[in-house]
Amino acid sequence: FLDIRALQPSTGVCTFDPGFSSTASCQSAITYIDGNAGVLLYRGVPIEQLADKGDFADSAYLLLHGELPTKIQKRKFEIEIKTHTLVHEQLIQFYKGFKHDAHPMAIMVGVVGALSAFYSSTSEVHDPAQQLRACMRLISKMPTLAALAYKTSRGMPIIYPRNDLSYAENLLYMMHAVPCEPYKAKALETILILHMDHEQNASTSTVRTAGSSQANPFACVASGIAALWGPAHGGANEAVLKMLAEIGTRDRIPQFIAKAKDRNDPFRLMGFGHRVYKTYDPRSKIMKQICEQVLENTGVTHDPLLEIAVELEKIAVHDEYFLKRNLYPNVDFYSGIVLRALDIPVSMYTVIFAVARTVGWVSQWKESMLEAGKITRPRQMYMGQMERPFVSLGRRG
Ligand code: ACO
Repeated sequence: FLDIRALQPSTGVCTFDPGFSSTASCQSAITYIDGNAGVLLYRGVPIEQLADKGDFADSAYLLLHGELPTKIQKRKFEIEIKTHTLVHEQLIQFYKGFKHDAHPMAIMVGVVGALSAFYSSTSEVHDPAQQLRACMRLISKMPTLAALAYKTSRGMPIIYPRNDLSYAENLLYMMHAVPCEPYKAKALETILILHMDHEQNASTSTVRTAGSSQANPFACVASGIAALWGPAHGGANEAVLKMLAEIGTRDRIPQFIAKAKDRNDPFRLMGFGHRVYKTYDPRSKIMKQICEQVLENTGVTHDPLLEIAVELEKIAVHDEYFLKRNLYPNVDFYSGIVLRALDIPVSMYTVIFAVARTVGWVSQWKESMLEAGKITRPRQMYMGQMERPFVSLGRRG
């Protein structure tokens, strides 16, 4: 029974917008998306140009500070990131408490939140210099925390960061214990750039919502990691690879397409569709190119999963069901194949996404701290019972 009057007397007119698809929750100058034209800009700079000509430091500095860095600013930024890669030894003890086969994302939710126990102070929320310091700490420590989660989930000894390596090289080094080939670092760096920010998606909105209560930045980012984990969001890259493996052979593709179109079947084509893009996600085009380059470099001339993905894309983008609903490949459709070629295990895909998105989360958190501190507090459309008397246990049957 719907009694909308239950809400209206106290609030006046209010909008009901499930999934917030028509609600702007904040003002932001960080990322611009034109979902119909397939445009993505970081602080006005097209994602294609950053992926092609920029690097990790250019993109992260741009998101955090609003401008591309000068040579000196860039050098300082890179040095500062490298200075904060280590985590407190006591924090490393946390990893030993997790079950041996814990999912690395479960570990990440815990350990990133636990950073608050080591670094947080109220000044991090209010003082701009301390805010920036917290942002830099989070960006710097994420690869170390991610690699530690990986090593823990494999029962392997941990590897400390090497500050002579780049951000992407260091992450791969701490996971694989040997420095990687340059093309692998370049591919990972591009993946990181592509995933850094995407305006008010579920995890970023979560970070800003947590921040609106003046929670410390480490706790806010931990909440973002939790929101990212789901298969409808960051968990999609893991789900895509599982789906491609399940399809197995090209002749089984039509069967899966039919399943995705069946409205009585909850199955969806993973890596397809996007709340904002109603055409190709510009990141998916770049990701497809990286995928081809990486496979060429690894000497893989025939990758069955890539073949299934390409064929699946070809069929789906010409199918009336997908065309009518504007469902095209998103960034996650090809990212799993690239990460697999970089010898990154499937359970780490969403963790890599979280490492990249940390740059966006902290930039958005920092921006939100400038707003006139209004706590995020949506209302609801109450669908339950109106006032009724308490029934004592003896009379309840
Ligand atoms: N496969 C089949 N059908 C789909 C898919 C899909 N991947 N995505 C949407 N649809 C259909 C829905 O069933 C619905 O059909 P209907 O109108 O007949 O009911 C219609 O398209 C609209 O779908 P919604 O769920 O309303 O769209 P929304 O914008 O809320 O969802 C989402 C976007 C969550 C990304 C969705 O497309 C999806 O689940 N995709 C698969 C998961 C995925 O790839 N997620 C990664 C997103 S990118 C990122 O987070 C980095």
